[in-house]
Amino acid sequence: MAHTWAPQQYLAYADERGRPFVELLARVGAAAPARVADLGCGPGNLTRLLTERWPDAHVVGVDASADMLARAAAIEGVEWQLADAREWSPAAPLDVLVTNATLQWIPGHLELLPRLVGMLAPGGWFAMQVPGNFDQPSHVLRDEVAALPEFAEHTRHVARPAAHDAATYLAALTALGLEVDAWETTYLHVLEGPDAVFEWVRATGARPVLEAMPDALRGEFEDVFRARLREAYPADERGRVVLPFRRVFAVGHA
Ligand SMILES: C[S@@+](CC[C@H](N)C(=O)[O-])C[C@H]1O[C@@H](n2cnc3c(N)ncnc32)[C@H](O)[C@@H]1O
Repeated sequence: MAHTWAPQQYLAYADERGRPFVELLARVGAAAPARVADLGCGPGNLTRLLTERWPDAHVVGVDASADMLARAAAIEGVEWQLADAREWSPAAPLDVLVTNATLQWIPGHLELLPRLVGMLAPGGWFAMQVPGNFDQPSHVLRDEVAALPEFAEHTRHVARPAAHDAATYLAALTALGLEVDAWETTYLHVLEGPDAVFEWVRATGARPVLEAMPDALRGEFEDVFRARLREAYPADERGRVVLPFRRVFAVGHA
């Protein structure tokens, strides 16, 4: 089931969500790429970093969400394109193709990798990052609450993000002929404010479920989910919680 994105909510943790992008890009060795694309660019705040690193490159930001691109539009120096990553093709081969925190939303995305790698120019770079935290309470509790009898009929067909381990991407990209560097990092995000973990997940992993809920039930769903998250991620005496967040990275060089 299709769902929408709320750029403002998503940007609430821009620093925490941006760090993996910076660490991903640090492993891309392109010196002076001519054509760069950011697939699933979202609100564009990270795409902007590509224009800063490679000011002479033609940078394209692609996303399937008109809301996200409306937010990105104010950022200069990027050609924004509304398209589904599964169907998009670049006008010419790419020197750098980045896709950050996006492939987990595309079911069966390993099958998309040959097409993406096929977009690279000789010597081009492919860089991806996906969450690797789907076994964590933030996701497990969402699914538990969604499966409660009062909510189940509304949540059954809702999109849920999914991804693989670093070794799987390493093998898949190596088989496509790239020199691959794959790794994982677990960040310990220290979040502040009431129900900070709920605020984090409502903008991403839990958004489809929350959107699928009828208005009359959404408040109840959120109350139950918030209470379970508070138990799983207890606040310290200063009201801070730690959200461990594992992320999986792969960079391939053609
Ligand atoms: C979690 S956000 C990541 C945004 C940005 N890359 C970042 O790291 O902040 C995921 C983005 O992927 C986009 N997306 C999801 N499925 C997509 C698809 N099939 N084609 C293009 N974009 C997609 C969403 O619209 C959303 O903007």
